[in-house]
Amino acid sequence: MGKTIIVSNRLPVSLRHKNGKFEFKPSAGGLATGLGSIYKEGENIWIGWPGNDVADAEQRAEIIIELHELKMAPVFLTSRDIEQFYEGFSNETLWPAFHYFTQYINYDESHWEAYVRVNEKFCEAILKKADPDDTIWVHDYQLLLLPQMLRDRLPNATIAFFQHIPFPSYEIMRMLPWRKEILSGMCGADLIGFHTYDDMRHFLSAVGRILGLSNESGYIQSENRLINVDSFPMGIDYNKFAKSAKSKKTKDVVKKFKELLGNQKLLLSIDRLDYSKGIPQRIKAFDDFLSKNPEYHEKVSMIMIVVPSRAGVKSYIELKEEIDTLVGRINSDYSTLNWVPIHYFYRSFPFEELSAFYSMSDIALVTPLRDGMNLVCKEFVASKSENNGVLILSEMAGASKELQDAILVNPNNLAGVSDAIKQALTLEKKEQNARIKSMQDTIQRYDVFQWVKVFMDRLDHVKKRQYDLQ
Ligand code: UDP
Ligand code: G6P
Repeated sequence: MGKTIIVSNRLPVSLRHKNGKFEFKPSAGGLATGLGSIYKEGENIWIGWPGNDVADAEQRAEIIIELHELKMAPVFLTSRDIEQFYEGFSNETLWPAFHYFTQYINYDESHWEAYVRVNEKFCEAILKKADPDDTIWVHDYQLLLLPQMLRDRLPNATIAFFQHIPFPSYEIMRMLPWRKEILSGMCGADLIGFHTYDDMRHFLSAVGRILGLSNESGYIQSENRLINVDSFPMGIDYNKFAKSAKSKKTKDVVKKFKELLGNQKLLLSIDRLDYSKGIPQRIKAFDDFLSKNPEYHEKVSMIMIVVPSRAGVKSYIELKEEIDTLVGRINSDYSTLNWVPIHYFYRSFPFEELSAFYSMSDIALVTPLRDGMNLVCKEFVASKSENNGVLILSEMAGASKELQDAILVNPNNLAGVSDAIKQALTLEKKEQNARIKSMQDTIQRYDVFQWVKVFMDRLDHVKKRQYDLQ
């Protein structure tokens, strides 16, 4: 058995400038936090971009050494790559298209060329590290061409692909001028995984209609290879969150925070700054709730953590302004000398503080307009060690397929979300306990380790089937 090479655009650590030097900081985002618990086993390595633009050769050499100790290998992106591949094709074309925000799609040929060029750069980086019996596991929408590029160079390799964001319906996919190349690129893998059954179905339908390849129960017979496609809903490191919620360290942080906040009910909102997360809609729903329920003034506050993300992309810059304005308006409308409706933080938090927020909040308001999975809602549920708490969850999050005991809402229905807040605040303890417990059972059983195991077992099975057919 060889090693597993994990490949994703972003490494689980990102570089940041500090006093003229670089330092590493944990990356935010579901992919990095989710896989962060498993890549350290055996000889495995993780290949990806460490973030930022490092032009200096000496600095690059230092970074290579430091990452090597962490079992990672960098792919450096130039400032042009960042602009055209990362901000450009990945986040101004694929991200909006795959999240159904067609109004934001940028159709720019030079960005597409950069996407091809950077996928090739990743391919070269992998070829330097890969041995014939290794398993290469490529992740997410920034690297859709990579599986086929690797296949061309290593025809017998074991290559898997997992998509962490939604896969859109054929009607959206067909809008992209590069739809054929993208689907063919993905089909270089032996196993292609999605979070939900619907994403898988959309992919199979696009492959059928655009590439003319049919499937039988998720098995596609391409020219000379069998490819399996299926859904594997990603889990979290359940015990890490459950244990942390019970630890003395977290309890001390909770105590400190509670002293500052007083005895209010807390609604928690945590996302990267992203239009797919429905943050303005959520704030408007909270506004609606406050205006309809004055008896809750001074009794309920929202803690809203917005983690900076993709700050070079126009739609993200505009969103930041919209959120700032909305929060400012609500706080100025309702605040009193001892109450602020929204505690708004535009930054990321270390794990211990996140854990404290999860464990002390009464309600988590997770209302994306579209989300591949959403790990925040699972982390909240895992952190409810006393079994109290209510999850309000968008139907548009992949996680809603598993977490049916949440209060499920349509995030576009502001009055519906506002009513759900009221319902959550008045839900009986017994009912809260039953719902949380049932969701905990699900996510504890199917945690991230189980997710990796099920995926890898399937990959083995596919390779055996391919072998038997030869
Ligand atoms: N997160 C983080 N730092 C923060 C806030 C959040 O690392 O300050 C993490 C959070 O714990 C979660 C991830 O970011 O694991 C967000 O993943 P999710 O799947 O919810 O959304 P994504 O950002 O991948 O779209
Ligand atoms: C989502 C995507 C990841 C991405 C993360 C953070 O989780 O699925 O691929 O890494 O967001 O976004 P960023 O652009 O900072 O890498």
